[in-house]
Amino acid sequence: MRCTFIIHRYDPAADTEPRYQEYSVDAEPTDKILDCLNKIRWEQDPTLTYRYSCAHGICGSDALMINGRIELACQKLVRDFKTGYNFVIEPLPLFNVIKDLIVDLNPFFNKHRYVRPYLITDEDMPTTEWLQTRENQEFVEPALRCILCASCTSACPINRANGNYLGPAALLRSFRYIFDSRDTATGSRLAQMDSEDGVWGCRSMWWCTDVCPKEIPVTKCLAQIKRLIKQEAKK
Ligand code: SF4
Ligand code: FES
Repeated sequence: MRCTFIIHRYDPAADTEPRYQEYSVDAEPTDKILDCLNKIRWEQDPTLTYRYSCAHGICGSDALMINGRIELACQKLVRDFKTGYNFVIEPLPLFNVIKDLIVDLNPFFNKHRYVRPYLITDEDMPTTEWLQTRENQEFVEPALRCILCASCTSACPINRANGNYLGPAALLRSFRYIFDSRDTATGSRLAQMDSEDGVWGCRSMWWCTDVCPKEIPVTKCLAQIKRLIKQEAKK
């Protein structure tokens, strides 16, 4: 079938402002949107620029706006959309566009680094595996599914209003270590989260949860951090 793709284009070396370019592509209903972008790039326009790597929903690099909704281009098929085979493809909102569909994710990863996304412990390293209980593993498991695609942070309206807000992805990563029984930096991690730029910036609007391609209950995880901060304050 013939599909129409209207794609956001912007080359800072040539364009003074963004524009949209239309392409016509032969596609099967089972083709991924990423397949269609590849067809355009490989067969029609090698200047079209976008990110992808794994093509299987693992690397998180091809989050885009597809017909006004944030999606992974490799996880959505042509038949998933009820738009008569017409597609509008745009870069993730919130972030600055570098070129066409590529945005600058440095602010996103800087916030990720800020929450110290690694195990911190003052206990001696065990000689064998560092075990958790099954219950503890299951509690943090949803956060382990995060592929850092930035969809949630891009969708979050709080992030648009407050550029200093850490955003759902960084807060989720913090959740993963705050509740990991092997991490002993819980106090300083909670202190880091205890502000409007931290977890209290979250107004539980659920947009992050709604767009997450890994179906992570992001809002609920953030609520667990809020609850623990309150519990600790009562002690
Ligand atoms: Fe992407 Fe979901 Fe992780 Fe947010 S929580 S970065 S939407 S995988
Ligand atoms: Fe890796 Fe889509 S290309 S998640």
